Amino acid sequence: MKKLEVFGAAKLKGQIRISGSKNASLPILAATLLSNKKISLTNLPKVKDIETMITLLKSLGSSIDENKKILTVNNNKQIKTFAAYNLVKTMRAGILVLGPLLAKFGKAKVSLPGGCAIGTRPVDIHLQALSKLGVKYKIIQGYVYADAPKGLVGASINFPKISVGATENLIIASCLAKGKTILSNCAIEPEIKDLVNFLIKLGCDIKWLTKRRIEINGVNYLSEIKYHVMPDRIEAGTYLIAAALTEGNLKIIGIDPKIISTEINILKKMGAKIVKKKNEILIQGSKKIKSINVKTSPYPGFPTDLQAQIMVLLCKANKKSYIREEIFENRFMHVAELNRMGAKISINGNKASINGNIKFEAAELMATDLRASVSLILAALASNGRSIINRIYHLDRGYENIEKKLKKVGAKIRRVN
Ligand code: UD1
Repeated sequence: MKKLEVFGAAKLKGQIRISGSKNASLPILAATLLSNKKISLTNLPKVKDIETMITLLKSLGSSIDENKKILTVNNNKQIKTFAAYNLVKTMRAGILVLGPLLAKFGKAKVSLPGGCAIGTRPVDIHLQALSKLGVKYKIIQGYVYADAPKGLVGASINFPKISVGATENLIIASCLAKGKTILSNCAIEPEIKDLVNFLIKLGCDIKWLTKRRIEINGVNYLSEIKYHVMPDRIEAGTYLIAAALTEGNLKIIGIDPKIISTEINILKKMGAKIVKKKNEILIQGSKKIKSINVKTSPYPGFPTDLQAQIMVLLCKANKKSYIREEIFENRFMHVAELNRMGAKISINGNKASINGNIKFEAAELMATDLRASVSLILAALASNGRSIINRIYHLDRGYENIEKKLKKVGAKIRRVN
């Protein structure tokens, strides 16, 4: 099995171009099931989760043509409504085919995604909301059997909790439902805005009423379109943190700094010098890193997907800091590995206290989930000596060409057997 070998300590310098957003591409790919016209997508990242979603769509009967830069999806053939466990188990976003299948075909059998390392991650909010659109469902042996014999019918739905996936599933499903749907307490992550832009271009009738409330009027005609997916803000945040950590000097290109202003403000408060330009960010890491307390929360709050990475940076701060993880109950899997590298982090419920002034020591490490994996790379970059990171398949789920990008800015990193 492949491993990553990292030699520290690095001082990153140069420029990094941000890839397309994984978390925007996944719901957009699922939403192509609404249409039987040709849809061309550009800027999809080359990562494992996207491959898995493409395999899932192909298993349903989508014709997908992948050339270097453009992916063309055509759902004009017979589409199956069965999403199998072996495809949904590795990637929770597989549940996003449920909404479009129900909207288009009135029935679906989709495997439950199950738990994962960062928490139980149920889909009850998706299912309860879909039932308000007229869907009847049963859960039998790990599968959701759902149908809407009279088709989906618009309704007013107030999500009991902000959920990215449930908001996406419901927006997509409502596009073909009869009449008007109003969704309240929606997640408003930039990826959701990108999904909505995609759906509007496709011919769906959607408008935001207030910050977290959206109105969707069902349509019955969709157009052939081309769509360019937004850049990955989590990837951008990860490289910004890498620069702050290594006293580096990076130009991050291809991302609008406005969508990561919370992250940029936190890094500035910690001492990094940041200049925002139209589609790029310049960052100069500081020798002195100031401590700060961070709480993860739904957008526009600090993203849970950057919690592990910022924790590594906090280990280098001048004083103790705290992180409160408000989204996933068990997202501290990286802590044990970071402590093995010399960090002094203790966990109490959803709160981590992080001692500052840590000198990381290189070690052999085990990646446990996608963002935990990248936090280990960051800590390895900040250590003196050779670290080995095992189980990097987690990393390949979400970071395009990470070794290549880091190597280009001076990191000593390579994949070994
Ligand atoms: C998405 C992102 C993930 C990110 C997360 C939070 C994708 C593919 N994944 O995941 O990278 O970390 O948003 O920003 O975009 N919940 C329930 N019942 C439900 C649904 C969710 O209790 O039916 C809970 C979850 O367990 C979690 C919280 O709600 O505690 C938020 O989860 P959600 O926003 O739905 O995350 P995902 O869409 O799975």
